[in-house]
Amino acid sequence: MKRAAMRAMVVREPGGPEALQPADLPVPQPGPGEARLRVAYAGMNPVDAMLRRARLEWMPVRYPFTPGIEHTGVVDAVGEGVDAALVGARVLSRVSFGGYAEFSLAPAAALVRLPDGMGLAVGAAYRGCSSTAWYALHGAARVTAGDRVLVHSAAGAVGAMAMQIARDAGAKVCGLAGGPVKVAFARGLLADPAGEVLDYLQPDWPAQARAFAGPGGFDIILDGNGGAVAAANHGLIGVLGRIVHLGATAGAPAASAPTPQLIAGSYSIGGMTLRAVEAKMGAAADPIILREVLAGRWRVPVSEVVPLAEVAALHARLEARQVMGRALIEVGGEVGGR
Ligand SMILES: NC(=O)c1ccc[n+]([C@@H]2O[C@H](COP(=O)([O-])OP(=O)(O)OC[C@H]3O[C@@H](n4cnc5c(N)ncnc54)[C@H](OP(=O)(O)O)[C@@H]3O)[C@@H](O)[C@H]2O)c1
Repeated sequence: MKRAAMRAMVVREPGGPEALQPADLPVPQPGPGEARLRVAYAGMNPVDAMLRRARLEWMPVRYPFTPGIEHTGVVDAVGEGVDAALVGARVLSRVSFGGYAEFSLAPAAALVRLPDGMGLAVGAAYRGCSSTAWYALHGAARVTAGDRVLVHSAAGAVGAMAMQIARDAGAKVCGLAGGPVKVAFARGLLADPAGEVLDYLQPDWPAQARAFAGPGGFDIILDGNGGAVAAANHGLIGVLGRIVHLGATAGAPAASAPTPQLIAGSYSIGGMTLRAVEAKMGAAADPIILREVLAGRWRVPVSEVVPLAEVAALHARLEARQVMGRALIEVGGEVGGR
């Protein structure tokens, strides 16, 4: 039966988690080059929460706004110029918002088909975090076997994937997470007796990290966290080391390093966005990530699944730092498709 209206959770004005409000919206119609998805799951991405608060100056959105940048579903209609054979395909949408609704629109060319053997739930979580971690390590930081790698926010989705990818590149990995529950979660995902995850809420964590890395310090520090903790990076990085900033969930990094300090320490500080590095390097990571995830060697850190109606409470828990890995929002759930 053709639907005229759909359930959605929308942000009418920027604000806290309570700004996410239920709404009945018209089912969108795909325009030229677009496909419409019957949404299955959306991954709760930090960018959704940041845009709810209008915190990303470089990514302005118009309100009302339906979050959900990374979501899966089954294509149920296509617009002009799109091959009708796409209808029925199980896909990941990763560049258009709108996953917090029963139907979403996306440019058909930007959809990623899910392989056989990957469910729509894992499909909504695996790619953003894995690709960011892969390009950060193999692109921005140029990881090699034997490197000592420090990963901030190790219990977060990007951090959890980064630890596993660095481990399998032959690196010696140390993660950082806030509190014993997150430390245990991250250790389980790292699954490496040669690695370690430290609780950065313990004041002596920099000394423990230094002992782990040895006198040469860390070769790579991946920092998607920023905030006050980032100040310690400069005392932990080794000669020719690379500090790569991916984001600043805890706020702007408390301290940077003046050029004379960089010269004296012989290390570099950089940053990256997935979009820019992937555009330069091509989709090199995709087949590797799919191979490792489908083989179970890289475990996608899906931690919980909540119904769409409870997404405001989930955002509140994210901001209270009570969410680990990638939480999923169930919209239509596992639906048929090919
Ligand atoms: N550059 C890119 O292309 C790109 C792509 C994807 C993501 N990112 C960035 O990478 C970072 C990690 O992403 P993610 O998807 O892994 O995030 P996530 O799963 O939500 O993890 C974020 C972690 O940040 C820590 N945190 C610190 N301050 C927080 C706060 N005020 N609210 C909530 N959590 C806080 C928490 O760990 P603790 O409690 O242990 O500190 C949490 O586990 C983010 O900054 C994100 O924007 C960048």
